[in-house]
Amino acid sequence: MAPRPIIIDCDPGQDDAVALFLAMSSPDELDILGITTVAGNVPLALTQRNARMMCDIAGRTAIPVFAGCERPIVREAITAEYIHGNTGIDGVDVFEPETPLQEKHAVEFIVETLLTADEHSVTLVPTGPLSNIATAIEKEPAILQHVREIVVMGGAMREGGNRSPSAEFNVLADPQAADIVFSCGRPITVMGLDVTHQVLSTRERVARIRALGNAVAEATAGMLSFFHRYDTGKYGSEGAPLHDPCTIAWLLDPGLFQTRACNLSVETESELTMGHTAVDFWHVTDRPRNVHWTYAVDANGFYELLNDRLARFGR
Ligand code: BDR
Ligand code: CA
Repeated sequence: MAPRPIIIDCDPGQDDAVALFLAMSSPDELDILGITTVAGNVPLALTQRNARMMCDIAGRTAIPVFAGCERPIVREAITAEYIHGNTGIDGVDVFEPETPLQEKHAVEFIVETLLTADEHSVTLVPTGPLSNIATAIEKEPAILQHVREIVVMGGAMREGGNRSPSAEFNVLADPQAADIVFSCGRPITVMGLDVTHQVLSTRERVARIRALGNAVAEATAGMLSFFHRYDTGKYGSEGAPLHDPCTIAWLLDPGLFQTRACNLSVETESELTMGHTAVDFWHVTDRPRNVHWTYAVDANGFYELLNDRLARFGR
């Protein structure tokens, strides 16, 4: 089967970076048409640089990387340096990458690529605030006809919020954008905190990755060792949740995850619960089932997949 064409829309971020590595390790399954970047964990100037660094480290300098929205559609930008460090990818040494930044705006790239693609052919994989994807939909709604599905990291139901008591970071960072994307009518699979909090980067798992010995594995282990610090203190867990790679892992091996068709609606008005994702898991309303909400994962299987794929970079 031909590899599935995808666009990864991200804000690296250590966990975004690992998602990029996982995707770049799997060219037989995934054809990365482009990486679009957005302001999120750190400002845009850093997320686009970080994405290009990951292409260099993985030896995939030909993948086009684009910079997109510098701020959310309505609200003021929020960032998360207290988790990711000032660079967004603390844990690796920063360098000026060879992978060039494309001149085109990320939104323009998304619109043009989708409009010229076959109907229902391209999978969008957003792992940051949804500003780029929502802006593209608003600008040219006809792109939706060309979207096969959207696999999002964002939201929370049982776990509650990680950036406010009610909201997960990516949705809180741009709730209006999230609302546009979740109501777009195309198939959507959501990796929220309920599932990402099950894939913890324990010391043992990070040590196994480091032992692979190639440059990508070393960068991954370095970043995860840093990423670890904040979340282990916050949650009292044995490791940090590896949020964003869940999207790519689902594309590579959906059997690792369990999902349920539900309605997901985003709170965009209340300041108290702004960015909350109201997930109708028990179907207590007749609102349309607009997402597949992921609620369980085989965590050991996830890390086996990650290890196997990162090992490929050494060959
Ligand atoms: C999400 O927020 C960011 O900090 C991570 O990169 C992930 O995309 C988790 O809430
Ligand atoms: Ca992210």
